[in-house]
Amino acid sequence: MKECCAFLLLLLFICPLGFYLYTIEYGTKLSPDFYAHSCPQVEDIVIDVLATTIATETRMAASLMRLHYHDCFVQFFFGCDGSLLLDSIGGIVSEKNSVFNSQSVRGFEVIDQIKAQLEKECPGTVSCADVLTLAARDSSVLSGGPSWVVPLGRRDSINASLSGSNSNIPASNDSFKAILRKFNRHGLDVTDLVALSGSHTIGFSRCTSFRQRLYNQSGDGRPDITLEESFAANLRKSCPIAGGEENLSVLDMVTAAKFDNNYFINLIKNMGLLYSDQILFSGNDISRGLVITYAQDQEVFFLQFAESMIKMGNISPLMGSNGEIRKNCRKINS
Ligand code: HEM
Repeated sequence: MKECCAFLLLLLFICPLGFYLYTIEYGTKLSPDFYAHSCPQVEDIVIDVLATTIATETRMAASLMRLHYHDCFVQFFFGCDGSLLLDSIGGIVSEKNSVFNSQSVRGFEVIDQIKAQLEKECPGTVSCADVLTLAARDSSVLSGGPSWVVPLGRRDSINASLSGSNSNIPASNDSFKAILRKFNRHGLDVTDLVALSGSHTIGFSRCTSFRQRLYNQSGDGRPDITLEESFAANLRKSCPIAGGEENLSVLDMVTAAKFDNNYFINLIKNMGLLYSDQILFSGNDISRGLVITYAQDQEVFFLQFAESMIKMGNISPLMGSNGEIRKNCRKINS
């Protein structure tokens, strides 16, 4: 028994994977039925708010999908736990200030709206982390993408990690190896990387995120990748060599607001907007093969996207008596 406890402690404190396995094997599990009795209307509330919002602003689907990703990709003890939603109040330094989030992530007021509705109907029951996860799934559905059953029961963190956000979210000019390493750190593999990058089939990027790709792609271990010339010429009009940092370009210039497999077709034509997009086609044989498969068969992409989103949503959830159910997603309860 003593040995068993010592082993568990070792897993908990030394081996992050061990903690993950512990929660799966011995602790509570996320479950699609988690709110079946306590808040059976949760999924209806989320999709109703989103349907109205996305009907007036299609981009919001992309922004909410990205919020979930940036919430999950912080660090081991800060996975999909709503930490991204916390404002800088008291001792908390908000992840909203990280290099990847500042001036970039959006959609917090939509999450507030959903949460306010949930607090009216099922007070203190549904976590902000679960709201983010459901909103990501519904954003896919409302943009024409796949649906999937969302495991629920995450709890909310009572802290945030600015440094974790800065160091664990991949940068758009990271090398293929560096990006894959960051995915591997969260238990995601090259298939997850390629499939999840397919979310760049919707949404926008600021000029500052792809300028290097337009004007000076090589260096720092990054191989040069030739951009399709007319595509590049067009991009340079809205993204000059200096200034215009915040100018927006669509991530998928063919079907910008539709969740489909055009993103992968673009990559084959050297028309990936971000360096991190295009590198999937030239990065290694496996990723190249996956890009070709998804470009040829949207159904295969959709199935893998759904599977990888569930996997991403399972990164280090807080469960049981860990964390709390925040009343307001922007601040901890006490
Ligand atoms: C593979 C590593 C990734 C990198 C380097 C990356 C990078 C970026 C960058 C630079 C932007 C534009 C941000 C801006 O300029 O303000 C962006 C937008 C976006 N990203 Fe990613 N991303 C990655 C993976 C993902 C994943 C895994 C998801 C979701 C599952 C995702 C969803 C999105 C969406 C939907 C947008 C558009 C957001 C909007 O229009 O508001 N990205 N990403």
